[in-house]
Amino acid sequence: MNLKIAVLPGDGIGPEISQQGVDVMSALSHRFGHQVSFEYALCGAEAIDAVGDPFPEETFQTCMRADAVLFSAIGDPRFDNDPTAKVRPEQGLLAMRKRLGLFANIRPIQTFPSLVHKSPLKDDIVSGADFICIRELTGGLYFGEKYEDDDRAYDTNVYTRPEIERILRVAYEYAMRRRRHVTVVDKANILASSRLWRKVAQEIAQEYPDVTTDYMYVDNASMRMIQEPRFFDVIVTENTFGDILTDEASCITGSMGLLPSASTGEHTPVFEPIHGSWPQAKGKNIANPLAQILSVAMLFEHFGLAEEGRLVRQAVDASLEANVRTPEIQVPGGAPFGTSEVGRWIVDYIHKR
Ligand code: IPM
Ligand code: MN
Repeated sequence: MNLKIAVLPGDGIGPEISQQGVDVMSALSHRFGHQVSFEYALCGAEAIDAVGDPFPEETFQTCMRADAVLFSAIGDPRFDNDPTAKVRPEQGLLAMRKRLGLFANIRPIQTFPSLVHKSPLKDDIVSGADFICIRELTGGLYFGEKYEDDDRAYDTNVYTRPEIERILRVAYEYAMRRRRHVTVVDKANILASSRLWRKVAQEIAQEYPDVTTDYMYVDNASMRMIQEPRFFDVIVTENTFGDILTDEASCITGSMGLLPSASTGEHTPVFEPIHGSWPQAKGKNIANPLAQILSVAMLFEHFGLAEEGRLVRQAVDASLEANVRTPEIQVPGGAPFGTSEVGRWIVDYIHKR
């Protein structure tokens, strides 16, 4: 297969983990005979510094020309504590989502048997947990009308029927290929937007009689997720709830550094870790590259290349088993491997299989 990849390393640890993702893609294409080409583009704080825009037009065009985007992270502390900043790196991420029409953010939550003890939750609660969170990504509070002055500010949570329908369909299609259980998470006891979600969900659910649907308020869902994570198969929810619930869900796996995601929609799909730019670790070669590497697995799987995805997952499992791990998940007494050493080990594994 010919694949044109736009690579957006971004800020903080972004460039370091991006390199591991690119190396793994190159190894896979060599191993399976694909032609993969990479085109790099600026985003985030580095793009603000270079051209004054966190998602420049040229980056957008590079993404549009590509078959997929390999994205890493954006965010910079220089902007975090300055509420007066006119442009912020995160606006680049929102612009990318909006302009590429990435309405569906797929975040799989899985446990790795060798890492179950890293979760702050008890082993018998998390072991075997396996669900995906489908987060609506181009609507809701993130994109609704906003107002801000010194005494008053608001954000509006707007959703239209077509926006809700299309994300629900994504959820039901995933459920059909999994354990056929969809949980619609909302706050329909309070929010009008949630009541529309629930109404539309009740209609769509009838089109999928083989799928069990349940409805859960977000406060209850946040509790259930850590009390009984195995309950869930496919969660579908609006933008803000999905943002919050997936950070919570990362505690099930044990490290933010392990969770990949895919954002799909109208134009080029984007594959990225769910974690941020971890500026304190920038340049230290300590960030876990596995979330980025697993996002490469999702990328190949998106194009129907299941065997390639499987080999990446197998390599990741093998690296964990061999204790080739970055410091935050290393076993007591184990040598802490750097970002690039973990990446290289996985590349070697792929070449050898
Ligand atoms: C995420 C991130 C982003 C979000 C930030 C960086 C804007 O937290 O992808 O979950 O809130 O969507
Ligand atoms: Mn988030």
